[in-house]
Amino acid sequence: MGILKLVKAFGACIRSWIGWHCYYRSERYIFQVIIDECVFDEQNFVPKVDVDVRIIHEKETVCDLLRDGFTINPPFALDMLETLPGQVLLCLFVERDLAHWQWLALDETAKIYPPLKIDYETDAYQWRGLTAPKYRGLGLYHYAILNLFKYAKEIGKSRIVFTALKDNYLVLRAWAKLGGKVCGELYYLRIFAWTFWQTPKRNAYFFAEEGREIVIDQSRT
Ligand SMILES: CC(C)(COP(=O)(O)OP(=O)(O)OC[C@H]1O[C@@H](n2cnc3c(N)ncnc32)[C@H](O)[C@@H]1OP(=O)(O)O)[C@@H](O)C(=O)NCCC(=O)NCCS
Repeated sequence: MGILKLVKAFGACIRSWIGWHCYYRSERYIFQVIIDECVFDEQNFVPKVDVDVRIIHEKETVCDLLRDGFTINPPFALDMLETLPGQVLLCLFVERDLAHWQWLALDETAKIYPPLKIDYETDAYQWRGLTAPKYRGLGLYHYAILNLFKYAKEIGKSRIVFTALKDNYLVLRAWAKLGGKVCGELYYLRIFAWTFWQTPKRNAYFFAEEGREIVIDQSRT
């Protein structure tokens, strides 16, 4: 009986290794938020703890914060700061500890994932939202998005675009509450080293009126 369990566990490991290394498929929704069309009561999105909101434009600011006694611990990865050019990083600190971050890409120098073509004249692309496990469920994600809207508006952006895995219900629900609308779908397939992104033709219908369809940047696939 013990050996059978062991063989089964080994089989499961092999299957997941093959699954991860040889074949992976995911489906995402593309969302948009037209900032001026969002009407919500900010009182509904006050976090359950006191937070200090910082919008960071350059790596050096993070060094200054660390010198001032702020802490940044895993799961946040400081090496990601290398990719800061072309983006801003919105941080929520709880008692000087980094509790949540979100990234907002503002121009083409930002190497975003998935590789979408964003019209940065009017749009910004939100990605890499992450709350440290011990701070989850405190409303930080909602509050961060709200602050992101304000910032994007201040710098003259009218639309925020982002994508979410179709089964990431927390994220889908949060954005739906804050006025995010599904405006397309996106498929990803990886077989060994071959990767493939696709948007279905029906995506164009979402943009029939405004003609601002979000498509894949083929030069980056
Ligand atoms: C998705 C994620 C950012 C949400 O962060 P968060 O700060 O916990 O989110 P919020 O507290 O603002 O709200 C999320 C919802 O999930 C609930 N929730 C999230 N974590 C919870 C927890 N540990 N316990 C209880 N409820 C929780 C919240 O109550 C809220 O529900 P509601 O909308 O019905 O009120 C976080 O779970 C995370 O970092 N996930 C991994 C990375 C990821 O998926 N990122 C998003 C894609 S970029």
